[in-house]
Amino acid sequence: MHSLKNKKILLGVSGGIAAYKTPELVRLLVKSGAEVQVIMTPNAHRFVTAETLSTVSKKPVHTDFFKDELGQWTNHVELGLWADFFLIAPATASTLGKMAKGISDNLLIATYLSSRCKVAVSPAMDMDMLQSAATNRNLEVLKKDGVLVIPPASGELASGLYGPGRMPEPSEIFDFVLKYLQPQLLFSGKKVLVTAGPTYENLDPVRFIGNHSSGKMGYAIAETFAKLGADVHLVSGPVHLSPPENCAITKVESAEEMLQACRIQSNSADIIIMAAAVADYSPKTKAENKIKKKEETFSLELIKTTDILSELSANRKPNQHIIGFALETENALEYARKKLENKNLDMVVMNTLEDSGAGFGTDTNKVTLVFRDREQELELKSKTEIADDIANALYQMMNKNN
Ligand code: CTP
Repeated sequence: MHSLKNKKILLGVSGGIAAYKTPELVRLLVKSGAEVQVIMTPNAHRFVTAETLSTVSKKPVHTDFFKDELGQWTNHVELGLWADFFLIAPATASTLGKMAKGISDNLLIATYLSSRCKVAVSPAMDMDMLQSAATNRNLEVLKKDGVLVIPPASGELASGLYGPGRMPEPSEIFDFVLKYLQPQLLFSGKKVLVTAGPTYENLDPVRFIGNHSSGKMGYAIAETFAKLGADVHLVSGPVHLSPPENCAITKVESAEEMLQACRIQSNSADIIIMAAAVADYSPKTKAENKIKKKEETFSLELIKTTDILSELSANRKPNQHIIGFALETENALEYARKKLENKNLDMVVMNTLEDSGAGFGTDTNKVTLVFRDREQELELKSKTEIADDIANALYQMMNKNN
């Protein structure tokens, strides 16, 4: 299915004749579910109207830094951060040159310089301009800067000449964007078991021992693997999150219930990812009625729960890959390496709570992926991005071993 659902695309339109094709491109992007924000250079208005582009994109088009009559300015930083993908089509020789040199004299270039997402350009100009030394130099610089270049098509040009320089048809540019943004189904046919959230160990009918795990990391992992085509089963402790899309889910409360659910699901799993913060100890007895307050002090006897991860690892099926999590507050790397070794895992996702923005309840995390032969320290990023990194690392590992 062609879907760009929920993708945020910035379309920069610069002033060349091929701009007349952009309303059709916007229409295709919007039809496939993308949210499109158009930015035009001042000269683009000579080839296509802002009214047409705002109608098809269903959003006002941005051109100027300043909206004098309202005393407002357009925040290019916000636009740059908003986008998942920035497509500049058509990209004229002048726009390519300014991008390569960082000459920020219009909103499109300022937004380009502020953007953090992938940027693609579709150069469109007359053949001789395209083949000029300057344009070639600029395109080389842009490629080195990580910009994707959509090869221009050949054919009749506005000048009457025949040759390369045409902007490809909207459907071809659309396919290019789709190929880049639609996730590849790397884990299609694979069954993945993910645990998430805390466990609650009851003392009596109204009280429990729990922990601060929000479940966000495990839910992000489940959702990411489902997007990559896997058949995901999530075993979730009590959390306040909506179920991830396209995942089967078993909701549990206690470590014992999580163990039972994992025993059932693990037999057929190709990949097991244990992100849950499972209680290590549980009250030895659970009172049938609410415990009444009596003495000044109150002691509770706890017994060890079964380490689910260790049990599944000890009963590992052929070709099964198992990933554990480690939350450490001291000697993090040393303990994480020991966990990898003792529990016989393929990867440990290590988390230290040391960095601000890391750990419980936040949408971001700072982790190190610990493998048998190396470590990969990731910068502070969203839990969804970490889930992507875990999936990519695992994919590489599984395909290296095969
Ligand atoms: N885990 C589990 N079952 C348990 C306890 C932990 O499956 N009863 C899993 C967690 O989901 C996590 C990993 O084990 O993936 C790490 O848990 P942690 O409690 O940090 O490790 P321990 O080996 O229990 O070591 P310690 O508590 O001493 O750090």
